[in-house]
Amino acid sequence: MISPVLILFSTFLCHVALAGRTCPQPDDLPFAVVVPLKTFYEPGEQIVYSCKPGYVSRGGMRRFTCPLTGMWPINTLKCIPRVCPFAGILENGVVRYTTFEYPNTISFTCNTGFFLNGTSSAKCTEEGRWSPELPVCAPVTCPPPPVPKFATLKFHKPSSGNTSLYQDTAVFECLPHYAMFGNDTVTCTAHGNWTELPECREVKCPFPSRPDNGFVNYPAKPVLLYKDKATFGCHETYNLDGPEEVECTKMGNWSSLPSCKASCKISIKKATVLYLGERVKIQEQFKNGMKHGDKVSFFCKNKEKKCSYTEEAQCIDGTLDVPKCFKEHSSLAFWKTDAWDVKPC
Ligand SMILES: *[C@@H]1O[C@H](CO)[C@@H](O)[C@H](O)[C@H]1NC(C)=O
Ligand SMILES: *[C@@H]1O[C@H](CO)[C@@H](O)[C@H](O)[C@H]1NC(C)=O
Ligand SMILES: *[C@@H]1O[C@H](CO)[C@@H](O)[C@H](O)[C@H]1NC(C)=O
Ligand SMILES: *[C@@H]1O[C@H](CO)[C@@H](O)[C@H](O)[C@H]1NC(C)=O
Ligand SMILES: *[C@@H]1O[C@H](CO)[C@@H](O)[C@H](O)[C@H]1NC(C)=O
Repeated sequence: MISPVLILFSTFLCHVALAGRTCPQPDDLPFAVVVPLKTFYEPGEQIVYSCKPGYVSRGGMRRFTCPLTGMWPINTLKCIPRVCPFAGILENGVVRYTTFEYPNTISFTCNTGFFLNGTSSAKCTEEGRWSPELPVCAPVTCPPPPVPKFATLKFHKPSSGNTSLYQDTAVFECLPHYAMFGNDTVTCTAHGNWTELPECREVKCPFPSRPDNGFVNYPAKPVLLYKDKATFGCHETYNLDGPEEVECTKMGNWSSLPSCKASCKISIKKATVLYLGERVKIQEQFKNGMKHGDKVSFFCKNKEKKCSYTEEAQCIDGTLDVPKCFKEHSSLAFWKTDAWDVKPC
């Protein structure tokens, strides 16, 4: 038994449908879906727009009924992306982004000396949250510096409690008689490790040999080690060519091995020479001989121009080669002028 009211209503609907025109498939709306989606709608049929996940509606209506005119009303609805919380600032780091909207991804890097605790990128989700959670830039730390063998820690001041931060330093010292190879200073790197540790090695030097015409002293020990010292000296009339004191170097040799060189006897009876820029009488200045290495300048005459010039001579291991231009007058030839009394050229 059908209700007369229902029949009446159905008839009415039928009339409307026949009297009106059908609506076409509705316009596409960006980021929205239409339910139900059909190619045409009878007048009176309803459609509902809803925004796709990640988008929210703004302005306009969501629900429309196909009118008798068969033309959908103008739709002012907009679906706009969800916006995630502002994430443009990362302390001690940099954020790369275009916008903070769904479905964008932003990425992170930390400044040198900081490391990313978290992920290097995050995505704005449909729900408008960052996923995974935003990272932080945490300072790089180094463990206490390992102390090399045969070394001691001379200086170390961690900048944060007992942990060292990027660019902190530690300085090592070798035990006595151990030589250091490498840099005594290590630095906490951006990787959280220390730069290369130095090495401390025992270094032996051979016993220095006695120089001819001289002597050497060194510690009375079974072996001579790094930083041990030896002193040299020469017998009379000999002079040391080199330093008096030498040291065992980290290369395992002596900083220098001086020798004894003979001094020069002065055979000239009378001459004024230049010594260390001063005019001196050679036989007085070098009564006890000239030391190896000493230099003097002799005065010579230029006969044509009647003037004087100087020429240098050096005592080399007992030999002083007097310049050929130097003329020694017999002490009886008192009328002759000595070169050093002639005006310079
Ligand atoms: C990273 O951050 C988490 C949470 O903030 C913290 O529990 C963890 O200890 C941090 N890791 C490091 C290595 O700092
Ligand atoms: C840090 O130093 C304090 C005192 O200097 C010490 O008691 C503590 O054990 C140290 N912590 C670590 C992790 O070494
Ligand atoms: C040792 O390292 C420090 C810092 O790392 C540097 O400034 C210094 O020049 C280095 N010294 C030598 C001798 O290489
Ligand atoms: C420190 O760590 C970095 C990265 O792991 C590595 O390349 C480097 O060789 C390390 N440095 C030292 C001195 O161990
Ligand atoms: C010591 O030995 C090193 C390496 O063998 C060498 O380069 C250096 O010249 C030597 N030093 C001396 C003073 O002989």
